Amino acid sequence: MLKKMLKKVITGCLTVALMLSLGTLVLAEDMPGPDGNALWNYISKVSPYTQWSYWPDHQGMQKGRAPHGPLHKVFVNKKALNSAKPPLQYGAIEVKENYSPAKELKAITVMYKVKGYNPKDGDWFWVKYSPRGEPLKAGKPKGCIGCHGTRAANDFVVVHDFK
Ligand code: HEC
Repeated sequence: MLKKMLKKVITGCLTVALMLSLGTLVLAEDMPGPDGNALWNYISKVSPYTQWSYWPDHQGMQKGRAPHGPLHKVFVNKKALNSAKPPLQYGAIEVKENYSPAKELKAITVMYKVKGYNPKDGDWFWVKYSPRGEPLKAGKPKGCIGCHGTRAANDFVVVHDFK
């Protein structure tokens, strides 16, 4: 009798432990790999970037420079926002909406910090999307890295200054 109960308790505990570890696995797998389509799915459906925050020193529509276009908004996820100093935490994402002078959405450029992806250039995965989310350029484009590299000390981020 006692043995039977003990067995039940142990099986119960094991089931709970298994479910918890599965849950953690699912949560850990929540972040996409360095892949343009997977990242788009994440920032448009899993965790829509339009519901994220702005950097405190770069809120809402801002004037921009070439090559990104004259107007933009930069959205940042919690991992980025919670990074007090460079380098940003792994999993940090910045999404930049690029607008024409008439405020028409022209392109979406993204930086995503992926552990071990490109250590010599800050482990950033770079993507340029069409307004509909088609990846036009993705990976370690020399252009993105070359220009943002002038801000390597600020972990390649231009619009926000870490102090
Ligand atoms: C010639 C320089 C230059 C190139 C090339 C460039 N950027 Fe930028 N980027 C900037 C500047 C300057 C800003 C600041 C905002 C602005 O002026 O539009 C910026 C801002 C950003 C931001 C907002 C976060 C931040 O770092 O401030 C993202 C995301 C971004 N760029 C992604 C990209 C991607 C992806 C590429 C390549 C496809 C790229 N950039 C190529 C100059 C560049």
